[in-house]
Amino acid sequence: MKDSEFIPPGYTVLKGKGKVGWKAPSNIALIKYWGKKEDQIPANPSVSLTLSSSATSTTVFYEPVDKEAQKLTYDFIFEDKPNEDFRPKIDLFLKRIEPYLPFLKHFKYRIESSNSFPHSSGIASSASAFAALALCFMEIERKMYPEMDPAYFLQKASYLARLGSGSACRSILGPVMHWGNHSEITGSRDEYAIGWPFELHPVFSSFHDLILLVDQGQKKVSSTVGHGLMKGHSFASKRFEQAHKNLSDLRQVLKEGDLNSFVEIVESEALTLHAMMMTSRPYYLLMKPNTLAIIERIWHFRKETGLAVCFTLDAGANVHLLFPEDARSRVMDFAEEELFEFCEEGKFLEDRVGEGAKPLW
Ligand code: DP6
Repeated sequence: MKDSEFIPPGYTVLKGKGKVGWKAPSNIALIKYWGKKEDQIPANPSVSLTLSSSATSTTVFYEPVDKEAQKLTYDFIFEDKPNEDFRPKIDLFLKRIEPYLPFLKHFKYRIESSNSFPHSSGIASSASAFAALALCFMEIERKMYPEMDPAYFLQKASYLARLGSGSACRSILGPVMHWGNHSEITGSRDEYAIGWPFELHPVFSSFHDLILLVDQGQKKVSSTVGHGLMKGHSFASKRFEQAHKNLSDLRQVLKEGDLNSFVEIVESEALTLHAMMMTSRPYYLLMKPNTLAIIERIWHFRKETGLAVCFTLDAGANVHLLFPEDARSRVMDFAEEELFEFCEEGKFLEDRVGEGAKPLW
């Protein structure tokens, strides 16, 4: 399937060489994307908080090739070293985005990328990585098509990022992003993410995410495989319905700053995501004993203090502890006393809600 709205009008492919650079943040989903159709189309809509510190910075150097190459060539440098591990995913991404970027094969590229967080931390880097890369390619396209509308630039960047990794399409703007068709959200699309189009209570713009690194190793089952296991899953259709309903409920919660309902929806989404993994065929578990130990302590702390702290999980063992700014000092004391001991090598990342991707210069 090709979306003609993102195939640009004919423009002249410029011949010069140059470089472009973007920094894109990671994001953490409140309503989870889990299950997809052909062409990275999500099986249900999702909502995420854009993060601030956890980000990928990417510079793309481009240089014209003599004649339009049959096969696109590029070097990929990750944290100052050539890296082969990411090539299969980048190759697939380039193949998928090629119909939308007529200039692509007229150049060769050197892609230099680095993360603000340790790659081995087990936190998802594909979202920030593909968002940054998609923005770089859009920046090159903008040089050839300067009259491009800024809104189109961002939409198409999100569209292209999706073709690299679904959740990457939400790493463009902030503080809250929505992705996927939803009957109550005008302008919502399966093909790209949009900034949250409703009123947002100010409490959420300064929310914190303390990422507790329980397991920094490679995941046993990748997200891509996990999504695939939703095909034919016994609970799939109910789960997709539930995501629509949770998203409708979240709308009011985000408007009113109703933190108790926020906690309930977000934790339920996280546990449902993992319940889907546990009930797939083949079934599997990504939570570790320390994930559960942390969850139990969070529940106990919330009961004792009445503070609206909650957890969410992505497709791994690490725990994201979400809380409002005014709870920060008490939550950090609690984490120090009771949670860091469950983290691998005591490691954690302090992050907060952010504004979205930025050009590097
Ligand atoms: C659990 O976006 O990593 O984090 O599209 O196959 O690259 P691919 O998967 P990915 O899946 C993310 C799943 C999740 C939930 C979410 O971010 O919404």
